[in-house]
Amino acid sequence: MGSTESFGESALAASELDAACALVAEAGWNQTAADWRIFLDLGAVFALHSSDGRLAATAATLPYPSGLGWISMVLVGGTWRRRGLATRLLERCIEQLHAQGMVPVLDATPAGRAVYRPLGFRDGWPIQRWRRAAPDSRAAVPAATRFAPTTAPRAAPAAPLRAAPWPAVLALDAAAFGCNRAPLLDRLRQRSGAFACSIGQGERLRGFLLGRDGRAATQFGPIVADDEDTACLLVAHALARVATPIVVDALERHERFAAWLAAQGFERERPYTRMALGGDPLFGDAARTLAIAGPELG
Ligand SMILES: CC(C)(COP(=O)(O)OP(=O)(O)OC[C@H]1O[C@@H](n2cnc3c(N)ncnc32)[C@H](O)[C@@H]1OP(=O)(O)O)[C@@H](O)C(=O)NCCC(=O)NCCS
Repeated sequence: MGSTESFGESALAASELDAACALVAEAGWNQTAADWRIFLDLGAVFALHSSDGRLAATAATLPYPSGLGWISMVLVGGTWRRRGLATRLLERCIEQLHAQGMVPVLDATPAGRAVYRPLGFRDGWPIQRWRRAAPDSRAAVPAATRFAPTTAPRAAPAAPLRAAPWPAVLALDAAAFGCNRAPLLDRLRQRSGAFACSIGQGERLRGFLLGRDGRAATQFGPIVADDEDTACLLVAHALARVATPIVVDALERHERFAAWLAAQGFERERPYTRMALGGDPLFGDAARTLAIAGPELG
């Protein structure tokens, strides 16, 4: 009987990336080996193995300079669910982050939230994942709705991100997220060169959009902007340069941005809840955070 099986804990080895990606695929998630490498290189990944050596469960931590420690990639293989493995790994992550003086933070799926609430995590921002199918598999979007910001934008259209000074991008992200996360954004810049974009002149950036390739869809995010119209212009620029399915994890509070995404053919896929343990879950500048980098990154 599985409930008496013991599970060995270790750090995830780089040689286990295929097994880790199989857990992602089983859950219907979007991460690739390059995403796992973010946690292996910049954070930590804890793993539990079954008695016959198979990868049964994972959880990752990613420390940020603001003192927030992101917890993510909480995945338990279907065979091993409801045996306390996620809870055990969460406790391990919390122990590690507390030892570093960090506040544990995460963006939870509904199933994950049921695990985290009994551990003391409290709710912050509601987040919505939007998905748009690839152009050839969805009904044509009427021309009038292709780009229709609710007010006439005074900003110039978005330009490729390489035209913007990188320190200004990092500074705008830090103003929205709460700290400089250059090591992460450097990787996203490399993975989103075809569609990454910004609006504004020189150091006076009004917004930017980064993203990355994914297992089943391209992710747009973070999207940081002075206002919702600027965010729409950024997404319009990126949409014109990607032919794959697209996901965007937008803060629920931006209602006009949500309506515009819906008009472009995006559909609501699943909710997430930002949560924190022992700290304020409503951190950061939500007004300028139109979309997060992803639930695993914040
Ligand atoms: C969510 C997930 C990680 C839970 O893993 P798990 O090892 O089964 O969780 P635990 O056994 O530690 O569950 C602890 C408690 O959380 C609650 N819980 C766990 N999964 C739940 C679910 N799917 N629905 C409702 N409550 C759930 C229960 O109260 C459970 O206690 P119980 O089994 O005694 O009733 C796992 O189902 C999974 O990998 N899902 C797909 C990926 C995902 O959503 N991950 C979370 C990302 S934030």
